Amino acid sequence: MEKMHQLLESIFTSGALEKIVFSKSAIKEIKRAHGRIILIKGLRVLQIETLFTDGKARHHNVPEEQALRHVLEMTDNYKQINIYTTAGECEIKKNNGGSVHVINRIKGALVASDPANNDHQKKYLIDATDAAPFLSKLGVCDENGNVFDKKRSKFRQINRFVELLDDVYGKLPAEGELCVCDLCCGKSYLTFAVYYYLTALKGRQVKMYGMDLKSDVIAFCKQTAKDLQFEGMEFVCGDIHEFEPEKAPDLVISLHACDIATDMVLYNAVRLKAKVILSTPCCHHEMMNQLCCPPLSFVSKHSILKQKLCDSLTDALRCLRLEAEGYKVSAIELIDPEETPKNVMIRAIFADTPPQKRAKAYEEYKQTVEFLGVSPYYEQIVRKREGLK
Ligand SMILES: C[S@@+](CC[C@H](N)C(=O)[O-])C[C@H]1O[C@@H](n2cnc3c(N)ncnc32)[C@H](O)[C@@H]1O
Repeated sequence: MEKMHQLLESIFTSGALEKIVFSKSAIKEIKRAHGRIILIKGLRVLQIETLFTDGKARHHNVPEEQALRHVLEMTDNYKQINIYTTAGECEIKKNNGGSVHVINRIKGALVASDPANNDHQKKYLIDATDAAPFLSKLGVCDENGNVFDKKRSKFRQINRFVELLDDVYGKLPAEGELCVCDLCCGKSYLTFAVYYYLTALKGRQVKMYGMDLKSDVIAFCKQTAKDLQFEGMEFVCGDIHEFEPEKAPDLVISLHACDIATDMVLYNAVRLKAKVILSTPCCHHEMMNQLCCPPLSFVSKHSILKQKLCDSLTDALRCLRLEAEGYKVSAIELIDPEETPKNVMIRAIFADTPPQKRAKAYEEYKQTVEFLGVSPYYEQIVRKREGLK
């Protein structure tokens, strides 16, 4: 006990705390708690978030000079405490008999941490500590919610995707079970994140499908959903052209379906009558080999500019094609282009637009396709599957 007091005292008097996680709660209603030093109006405070078993969370702030006493009081209620400091981490474990075991991996001098300014701090919708049970299973963070360096960009990407979903949440049915499909789900980081957002953060009942051609990733996703007891999640191995969910999806999502796979996603989302489609395309190769448009040769003679032109034209044609199906469509930025050039999201909301408006969009689409001398894959699928010439 003495060792624990000394350790906490040295951390708090030097201001070296970065994060503290209390787990294995002795109080039935409390799941765990975590704290970090933040700045509020220029003052350093320890912000504690307590997570309850009913899914609710409570925050409270303690001035840094009172933080040690507060933390010492909290230690009575938890059997495990992980502390992250500027000089390394340490762990405090208590057994049932009450004896305390301290593992101290602090190396070097404790120096004051640099708390993120609370006024400007990025708060993610999917908080890594709260969502650690599923994020750690997917290899994004450890069980205390510390995101691994190599997974930071994936973490930001899925959070941004969920933020953009949050923006259109009001377009989904307000009541009843939501049906969501992730087409070309791969390892399903996004599938799990969207399921978590809708069930844990929005309190909805969800039927969630993930579909991909790869049997090994689907087997992994099935097992993960089972381990997490994420009810209503179903993973299907197969071609999205053959996909038949039990009812029309309220939402179709897709992240980085390569090249023409995004056209397959959009075609099938329309075929299945999705109310909302959120799709982030991946690489664009198709048009690079097709473009035949002399008026644009002043651009296309420079290979790097041709690629950028084809990327934009491909996505703009996809948007137009969805407008011709009655959707209101926008192309928006998913993530900072410095992180990845694959940063466009096509957001389509079914608006049941009048036939004249759809016909106008289709005419514009046809004329543009002719002008560019291309044959978009979306249209090839329509011809093949719907027997049109
Ligand atoms: C680049 S991965 C992206 C995976 C995941 N969405 C992500 O962001 O991590 C593209 C996935 O599309 C899948 N795919 C391509 N064509 C498909 C099809 N016709 N039906 C089902 N899955 C397909 C591939 O198997 C691959 O896993």
